[in-house]
Amino acid sequence: MIAVDGKIEQIIADFPILARPTSRGKRLVYLDSAATSQKPRAVIQALVDYYEQYNANIHRGVYELAARATAEFEQARVKLARFIGAETNEIVWVRNTTEAVNLVAYSWGNANVRAGDAILLTELEHHSDLVPWQLLAQRTGAELRFIPVDERGRYVLDDLDALLDGCKLVACAHVSNTLGTILPLDVVIPRAHAAGAVVLVDGAQGAPHLAVNVKALDADFYTFSGHKMLGPTGIGVLYGKHELLAGMPPFFSGGDMIRKVGYAQTTFADPPRRFEAGTSNIADAIAYGVAVEYLQGVGMEWVREHERALTAYALQRLAEFEPRGLAIYGPRDPAAISGVISFNLADVHAHDLASILDTEGICVRAGHHCTMPLMEKMGWSATARASFYIYNTEADVDALCAGIEKAARLFGI
Ligand code: ALA
Repeated sequence: MIAVDGKIEQIIADFPILARPTSRGKRLVYLDSAATSQKPRAVIQALVDYYEQYNANIHRGVYELAARATAEFEQARVKLARFIGAETNEIVWVRNTTEAVNLVAYSWGNANVRAGDAILLTELEHHSDLVPWQLLAQRTGAELRFIPVDERGRYVLDDLDALLDGCKLVACAHVSNTLGTILPLDVVIPRAHAAGAVVLVDGAQGAPHLAVNVKALDADFYTFSGHKMLGPTGIGVLYGKHELLAGMPPFFSGGDMIRKVGYAQTTFADPPRRFEAGTSNIADAIAYGVAVEYLQGVGMEWVREHERALTAYALQRLAEFEPRGLAIYGPRDPAAISGVISFNLADVHAHDLASILDTEGICVRAGHHCTMPLMEKMGWSATARASFYIYNTEADVDALCAGIEKAARLFGI
């Protein structure tokens, strides 16, 4: 059972949207944090403060307003660096994980990957950590390989060394957005490095839920998005080891990423500015800094333990429906997954199930979850997915089960 220590009540009170009933007068039961998280009041207020108190462009003006905006923006970079144990000059602001992966695929990939090289992914990758590598392979003639998963979405690492032979790059999700499977990075990264490969970790579902230290992991690149971890949309981070970033050409070019510009030629700023062309997403970066401070205040160990306990409870409650045809996908071990459970109710389409749950105020995602190759491999046309975060409780799981009961009765199951 989850510890009742008053902390969860305090957290819930910090999220204004959770106090707002749905249009049908139901309590909002938000179980779609893997798609995007809700935002605490402090993050929303940081956005308002920027626009009401010190809105100005950064790195340009010498007046007080611009100096304050620049200082708050750069301070947010320091906060994000501390959050993942990186140096400040290793934090590149991007829009989201997708942009970060594309940046590496074009800038590092075009310069380093050649015909005959291999790029190793996993069968659980989100499209955003698959399609950019397919395009790089098409541009260069490189070969794509995949770490397989078994029928429960558990990694099969028996042939890892053979898969790594001739590999230039490993790109892998820290946590699967569809099944929640946690990749053992402590196994994969050292073996990838021993084989001479660079490792990019798609941390979109990792950084929000697990304590991450990129130096302890020895990840070469680690990518993640603000909006899945209490921050605003439109802001994310590419972490890269400084020596790697320093050797990479720009991805986007224009203002604010240059050292010297002539009519014929340009030299570029050092990282991270080299990769931040144009006016940055100032307000959202500042609010993202507030979001990670909030998470640090809660404690990432607490976050992990809360979600592990909630997942254990959800797996146990959902199992009550298995005799009536509820299929639960992914590993059944709460220690092996991070706050995500995919399922289907007999032959009820996942979209129908999600719509019925919606009438009860329950938000789940339904569909292929941007992992179409995985769905095809498993033979699923769609799944319903419940995903948890710091503000979810056993009462939310109970509401989900009551909603599934309603759907089962409607369909005569
Ligand atoms: N990647 C997000 C999800 O899994 C959008 O829902």
